[in-house]
Amino acid sequence: MDDPLRIGVLVSGVGSNLKAILDAVEKKELRAEVGIVISNKKGVQALDRARERGVKAIHLDPAAYKSISDYESEIIGLLKEARVEWVVLAGYMKIVSETLLSAYPGRILNIHPSLLPAFPGLRAQEQALKYGVKIAGCTVHLVDSGLDSGPVIVQAAVPVLENDTVESLRDRILQKEHQIYPMILKWISEKRLNVEGRKITLRPPATSSGPDLVNPGEGR
Ligand code: GRF
Repeated sequence: MDDPLRIGVLVSGVGSNLKAILDAVEKKELRAEVGIVISNKKGVQALDRARERGVKAIHLDPAAYKSISDYESEIIGLLKEARVEWVVLAGYMKIVSETLLSAYPGRILNIHPSLLPAFPGLRAQEQALKYGVKIAGCTVHLVDSGLDSGPVIVQAAVPVLENDTVESLRDRILQKEHQIYPMILKWISEKRLNVEGRKITLRPPATSSGPDLVNPGEGR
């Protein structure tokens, strides 16, 4: 059996998606290890959530670096030291530059609270309410150099209700986020994602190719 998937999570805030991932690991629904959590913001709840579970959690202040490239080089050093294979952006409120993208090509995920390509960028739930859409949702995608523009892996939809506020819609979408992010990481840990340009498909789960231990004589 392969080693558990090594994940590094970049955060900036509450960390409810990080919690969903850590819960899935703890319940053994996801065969992975969160090797490190890095925040660009100081004192955020996401860092506490990581530390409570014994996960290394670090605040790195972007203002302390000359450039975004220097900042990301420091992040890459920490990710590599933690033997991270996949980088998971979970409420990370910073644009990822070419430095990090080229260190983890095709191996950076983001979750966005809209059905992309609708409503990229900040305050997606507010944009959806203002526009008057009747269906909202969330998207997990691979990160590329654009703003919320990488290939889509999975989307989940929720209804927009007549009396919705930004908060009520955000909470309804978050419930879906917490389901799909660990689910996709599980697929990645099982090497089931098939990426062909923008088209991402899911391979069926691998079947055991070893000997049939229940009925060893069968098939002879
Ligand atoms: C989520 O809505 C996510 O889609 C967006 O930022 C929010 C992060 O929430 N990228 P949390 O920090 O995981 O609670």
